[in-house]
Amino acid sequence: MESQDEGQRLLRQADAHPSRERLLRAGVKPGLRVLDAGCGAGAVTRELCELVGPTGQVTALEPGARLLSQARATLAAFDTVTFVQAGLPSTGLPEATFDLVWCHLVLEHLRDPEAAVRELVRVVKPGGRVVVCDVDGNGLLNWPQPALVDDGVARVLAALEAAGVDLYVGRKLHHLLWRAGLTQLRDWVDPAFAFSVADERWLDDWRTRFEALRGLAEPRFPSPAAWEGFVHAFLLMLKDPGVLKYGVLLTAEGTRA
Ligand SMILES: C[S@@+](CC[C@H](N)C(=O)[O-])C[C@H]1O[C@@H](n2cnc3c(N)ncnc32)[C@H](O)[C@@H]1O
Repeated sequence: MESQDEGQRLLRQADAHPSRERLLRAGVKPGLRVLDAGCGAGAVTRELCELVGPTGQVTALEPGARLLSQARATLAAFDTVTFVQAGLPSTGLPEATFDLVWCHLVLEHLRDPEAAVRELVRVVKPGGRVVVCDVDGNGLLNWPQPALVDDGVARVLAALEAAGVDLYVGRKLHHLLWRAGLTQLRDWVDPAFAFSVADERWLDDWRTRFEALRGLAEPRFPSPAAWEGFVHAFLLMLKDPGVLKYGVLLTAEGTRA
């Protein structure tokens, strides 16, 4: 689901929801060596670079060539960042390298999040922290939801599930870190958003998501027109003042023994 628009969407998303407080809470500080696993267009990587400062180092890992080149542009001002084109769980990075590993909104996309977490643990130093963050039920927490949207969401979920995307990975993060043998686990639930009438930025965000999803999801609908009808109904719902939409972000972190 890589596209030029997806990179722009990620940058806008990061502007709307800065990660700085969550990075500070996770212990990101000057001088650390940090991995950003699945850095996308580099929006959160930029905050990492600012926080570790000139004495720190950041490795930006991203499998998508286009997103990685957008990340290079986003981070052009920093000489403390290195770029690696690779994907979890096969990063090719040396063992026990990082003080802190950050993995933000990535695990929901992976068929084998357990293997991915094992790799995050392998590359962090003993005593270092692994921090994973993901949404839970993103786009699905709307009430009341029109029947047409209910039906379309079920089809989209089936398509995503078949493609290995797990929209409920947020609630599973703690268990994933626990199974990987990390200690000193901490968990957080942060509000991501709550609104009734979506603004233009939000509508654009969802149009971009639906465009990226089209190839995967449209075949699950009786016809292309039925897919378009669902997208239209979903966007209308986003503007309906009688419907609450909300989202949460879960973070789990733990230490490698
Ligand atoms: C929603 S974006 C999040 C990007 C970034 N972490 C952020 O918060 O802005 C999901 C990212 O996961 C990346 N990704 C997909 N499969 C991956 C894998 N196997 N290993 C690492 N990253 C992956 C995508 O290319 C994309 O950049």
